Amino acid sequence: MRNVNVVVMGFGNVGRAFVKVVSLKRKMIAEKYGININIVAVGDSKGVAIKKEGFDEYELLKMSELPRSSLHMFAPYGRQEVDIKEVYRETEPHIHVELTPANYLTGEPGYSNILFALRNNAHVVTANKAPLVLHYSEIMNEARSRGLSVRFRATVMGGTPFLEMLSSMKSHDIERVEGILNATTNYILTEMHENLVDFEQALKKAQAIGVAEADPTLDIEGFDAAAKLCIISHVIGKPINMNSVYRESLSKVTLKDVLDAVRQGQVIKYVALLDTQNKVASVKIVRLPKDNILAQVGGVLNAVRVKTDATELFFVGKGGGRIETAHSVFDDVLSIVLEKVIGK
Ligand SMILES: NC(=O)c1ccc[n+]([C@@H]2O[C@H](COP(=O)([O-])OP(=O)(O)OC[C@H]3O[C@@H](n4cnc5c(N)ncnc54)[C@H](OP(=O)(O)O)[C@@H]3O)[C@@H](O)[C@H]2O)c1
Repeated sequence: MRNVNVVVMGFGNVGRAFVKVVSLKRKMIAEKYGININIVAVGDSKGVAIKKEGFDEYELLKMSELPRSSLHMFAPYGRQEVDIKEVYRETEPHIHVELTPANYLTGEPGYSNILFALRNNAHVVTANKAPLVLHYSEIMNEARSRGLSVRFRATVMGGTPFLEMLSSMKSHDIERVEGILNATTNYILTEMHENLVDFEQALKKAQAIGVAEADPTLDIEGFDAAAKLCIISHVIGKPINMNSVYRESLSKVTLKDVLDAVRQGQVIKYVALLDTQNKVASVKIVRLPKDNILAQVGGVLNAVRVKTDATELFFVGKGGGRIETAHSVFDDVLSIVLEKVIGK
């Protein structure tokens, strides 16, 4: 049995789900692949819990039930104000999992954490998009120069291995990627169409059931979808930056717009587009005929149409969700372990 040490930074929706999924599936993974996934440290904004030999299943489950920002109180392993250097010195991780919030101005804290991990010989898995959107080339060059991997399938269509499939299409010239990349805004539009409520009511419902954040700005203003287009653009080797993505605010959509669209047999969707031939990237409110394949994707589902010089493909799947995203993160961890750490 080979031990693989994993450090997790960020213990919110996804971090908790990841820790829980690892605790529930660790035995199955050990039997299947002969590896022990050892979570050796978990950090939030207030502190860390560290156990050099790895937390057991019971401790991980108990940890995932803690209130927010209280890892430092997870006795006897919790500590306040521990810096990442000390965490690494004590735990010598093989893999760093970055699940901190996205800050599109600075990329922090994810950017510094990821560079630190790579410079200390740890592979990286991130669900946090911001460091990739702002510093993709630097991060990838750092990883490449050290023979390390950076995986990020949870960043686009979080619950679906879309990026894995896209990056495997190496012989294709990708001409156009178009789709519904943000689950929150698709839920809001679906709610407006199905229940004929206005934008504010639909947003409130989304917040009440946990589909929208208390501060929904990143979703509603199109930053999240624009960030995903940037990541897609890097994966297909035709990089763009956030500033070159034209964005419209979803809050402009009124109930009257929805009723007008319905009368004309149309559906309003918030569509992200990367047109590599015309060098256009946008996140816009569009009206689609109701028989259009994208028009039929409702609720928290995401969908992407990929047009290449050889074919056209359509992907549908869960955009996010803590459990689905945690599985994407875990899949990336396991891919790295199998390919790089134990070289199977
Ligand atoms: N939720 C999804 O379905 C989903 C899907 C795909 C991608 N993502 C991305 O995954 C990441 C995590 O999402 P989430 O929903 O879990 O976010 P979240 O609930 O806001 O959790 C963020 C976590 O990061 C911690 N944190 C903040 N600053 C930190 C710092 N300086 N050092 C260490 N930890 C710090 C927070 O600490 P406290 O607990 O102390 O506040 C919290 O535990 C985000 O970048 C998000 O965009 C999320």
